[in-house]
Amino acid sequence: MARITASVYTSHVPAIGAALDLGRTAEPYWQKVFAGYDFSKQWMKDHRPDVIFLVYNDHATAFSLAMIPTFAIGTAAEFQPADEGWGPRPVPRVIGHPALASHIAQSVIQDDFDLTIVNQMDVDHGLTVPLSLMCGQPAAWPCPVIPFAVNVVQYPVPSGRRCFMLGQAIRRAIERYDEPLNVHIWGTGGMSHQLQGPRAGLINRAWDNRFLDELITDPAQLAQRPHIDYVREAGSEGIELVMWLIARGAMADVAGGGKPTVAHRFYHVPASNTAVGHLILENPT
Ligand code: DHB
Ligand code: FE
Repeated sequence: MARITASVYTSHVPAIGAALDLGRTAEPYWQKVFAGYDFSKQWMKDHRPDVIFLVYNDHATAFSLAMIPTFAIGTAAEFQPADEGWGPRPVPRVIGHPALASHIAQSVIQDDFDLTIVNQMDVDHGLTVPLSLMCGQPAAWPCPVIPFAVNVVQYPVPSGRRCFMLGQAIRRAIERYDEPLNVHIWGTGGMSHQLQGPRAGLINRAWDNRFLDELITDPAQLAQRPHIDYVREAGSEGIELVMWLIARGAMADVAGGGKPTVAHRFYHVPASNTAVGHLILENPT
């Protein structure tokens, strides 16, 4: 059967993608950000997954205000990088895994979660920047990726509690897939940032670090936090962090298994307007 062996959490700041694409990673400002991912790029080579289930948010790129799915699973064979205003990022296309994605859709919908099935979709920085941070600049991404888009842009957005429960359903689905695949689940977006209004530029280091602590040690408690806490403490775009609870909900300990080990933890301010947070958790073997 397929197995989730690890979860990865990372911010997705678009300027990070631009710094990579424009060859500016050695500049002192960016060097401090990328240094936090040196370990991760090696870890990806040492723990190469067969499939990445990548939870991210679309920023009104593939979905406009005309149509706003709360949870959308990409079942296509491939996904192109989107044009976000400066042309598509010069990164490889994303190869999907239609068989596993369809199986997960079947299982999770039967498990009472409503997913939108997306057979055609472009993917924006929410998905491509985490891949770049973890994999660098390869000619092709190391494995197929199942994009899983969550609405954290237009209210109402899903609660942390629902995201955490959804992660548990995704884990059950993956473990019912009859092929011995090594699957990583990624939760992306965050950490604290607010891009507009009088509080633009808000960063809350203390809150972010408590979020990381609690995500590791007591995610069930963390999942009870209401939206207003995220928005008040971590800024309007800090709400992207609810997506991390989907990945955390899919880890073994939530289903009665052993605790994960923290392979890597990184926190850095600033990257553009955002606090960059990053964690790698491994399930016990
Ligand atoms: C920034 C961060 C985001 O999460 C995003 O989607 C766009 C911009 C920023 O910090 O600039
Ligand atoms: Fe964002």
